[in-house]
Formats: sequence, C-alpha cells, structure tokens
Amino acid sequence: MVTVRRAGALLFVLALLGVLGASAVPSPRFDNGLALTPPMGWNDYNAFGLDVSETLIERTADRMVETGLRDAGYVYVNIDDAWMAKARDADGRLQADPERFPHGIKAVADYVHGKGMRLGIYESAGTETCGGYPGSLGHERQDARTFADWGVDYLKYDTCNGSGVQRYAAMRDALENTGRPIVYSICNWGADRVWAWGSGYGNLWRTTPDIAPTFASLLDVFHATVRRSGYAGPGGWNDPDMLEVGNGLTRTEGRAELSLWAMLAAPLIAGADLTKADDGTVADLQNAAVIAVDQDPLGRAGTVVASHDGLDVLTRPLAGGDVAVLLFNETGADADMGWSVPGATAVHDLWAGTTVAAIRARVPAHGVAMYRVSRQ
Ligand code: GLA
Repeated sequence: MVTVRRAGALLFVLALLGVLGASAVPSPRFDNGLALTPPMGWNDYNAFGLDVSETLIERTADRMVETGLRDAGYVYVNIDDAWMAKARDADGRLQADPERFPHGIKAVADYVHGKGMRLGIYESAGTETCGGYPGSLGHERQDARTFADWGVDYLKYDTCNGSGVQRYAAMRDALENTGRPIVYSICNWGADRVWAWGSGYGNLWRTTPDIAPTFASLLDVFHATVRRSGYAGPGGWNDPDMLEVGNGLTRTEGRAELSLWAMLAAPLIAGADLTKADDGTVADLQNAAVIAVDQDPLGRAGTVVASHDGLDVLTRPLAGGDVAVLLFNETGADADMGWSVPGATAVHDLWAGTTVAAIRARVPAHGVAMYRVSRQ
C-alpha cells in the first residue's frame, strides 16, 4: 500500500514536472488575435539609420507594390526611430517631425492603407528613444491612443533609457485598451531572458542586440536564436532582427539569411533600400516556397539536428506532415552535405525550384541548400 502510494506521489510529481517542462511558454499567452504567423514587411532602420521621412516610407510602399513584395506577403511598412519632433505638443501628445513628415503620420497611414498595406511605428519603453526622441515611459496610455487614432497597425517598442519587464506590460495593456488591432513587437535585445516571458507580453521579441550587415553578425544572431525555438509559436515569435538581405551580404549569404529566418519561424522584415534594390535581392525576398516555410501555420520553429565543424542541419516540422530541411555551411569552403528523412516520398529543392532525388548538395561557403520533404 505504502509502495503504491509512494509510486502514486512519484508519478504525480513526474507528471507535474512533465507539464512544467513541456510548457516553455508562459501562461496565459498574450492573445490579440494577431501574428498567427510571423509578421512580414519592411523597416527603414537597417538601410537608413535615423534618416527616415514620409517620402521614403511612401516611395518604399509604392515599390513594394510594383515589385510584387506586397503580394508575396510583405505587408507591414514600418517607420523606425527619429520620426518624432524633439518635444511633445502642449497637450503632451507625440508629434511627427514637421520637416520629415510634413503631412503627419495619419496621412502616411492613409497612404499605406490605400496601397493595401499596414503601417508600423517605433517608440521606446524609456524616457527617450535610442535616437534621443521623447520616450513612452509614463505616457503609455496617451501614446497608444495617439497611435490608434493615426491608424497605426504595428508598434516596435524599444528598450533604450528604461529598464525592467513591467514597462512592456504597461504598453501591452495600453494598446489593448485602444481596441485597435496593433501588432506588438518587443525590442529589448534579448535582455531579461525575454524569450521566457515574451509570449505573455507581445507578438514578437528581439532575441539579440542589433544585427549588422555581415556574415559574422548573422551567425551570432542565428546561434543565439535557434536555442530558443521552443518558445516560438502562433501569436508570439522569436525575433532575430530585421533582414540584411541586399545590404552588403553576398547573394549566397542573403539566401542563407532568408532560409535560416524561415527555419526559425522568424519575422521577415526586409531592411534593404527597396527603391534601389537589384532584381536578385527582390527575387530572393519573394521566394514563395521559402516564405511558405516561414509562414507555415503549425508555427513550430526549427531546430539544429546535427552540427559538426561549422556544418549544420536544421529541420522544421510543417503542417500536414511535411518537413523543411536546411543544410547550412558556416565555413569559408564549399562542402558536400546530406541528410535523410524517414518515409520521404518527394524532395523539393526550394532555391533551385526543382524536385530532386535526395537531400544532398555541394553547399557553397556561407551558403545553404533548403528542402521541403513530403512524407507518407
Ligand atoms: C535600437 C534598435 C534598432 C533601432 C534603433 C533605432 O538600437 O534595436 O533596431 O530601432 O534602436 O534608434
């Protein structure tokens, strides 16, 4: 009897541990009904720094329509830091810089909405933004109301000049209080183990400090993020930062970045100057088969299943039983790589656009081969 009781208690404890261990994600999850797949769009910061204007935003929106990027899924046009005047108005409201945005943010939102896209904006959960403009700390309600009144659909909320986790809850609640659907992007650079609480607070959260347009930076961000894959899921995503495709990465590296981000179920926020981007950059951003992996409705991020001397294999389970497989060569020399998936009935090479006999390739230095495998 004692043995049975003890066994029962042990089983109970094990079951409890199992439940706690399995739920990497805090409960309750923040649920505003948005970002059921990772957000896709564009942001000015990687290419333009603090040099943003309404002309840039509107010409980029035009270009996203003309190139087909909008129809490929890149619908958020996001304004980053430095859109504001240096002071609030007499009623304490944020106001746009009158020279950079002479018609105000609402006019830009109307323009972008008229193109069938959505508008994103930037603020910081501190006394000032990273660029030294008025921050939202202590003004959350009023600022969220202002964004909603302007027709903003997405807020990137930075970390400069503030600290702690609670300030992200204050803006979450303020946004919810407006009644407007606004994607909430937490940008706290991976501090305070944000992956462990992010899904209770927002729709996406940065896992690292800022990315740079170099392969070394891409590797750092990838390695820091892939370890957190268990925390990503519909409505709440790890954010390895905006894309550097077209910003100085080689074409091979750009394809690697897109493929890695898709395997990670990461937001695809293009960061190149789309008014000048070459055809290769635009074509790579539009690869529908790679986007389909990123946007897979199951929403489970991929993981590293093998790694040896800078040669990595990642897999990601997809809705309906398919599996995405990525062969990633981090090294400076081309390498023969391969993998096999039990029960595979068809293998599609997502960059060649062909059906192939096996997952096997000579993968270029800094490059990838990416596959979608159908199974019985
Ligand atoms: C921080 C963010 C960047 C960008 C800048 C703007 O560094 O991480 O993505 O928004 O601020 O100042």
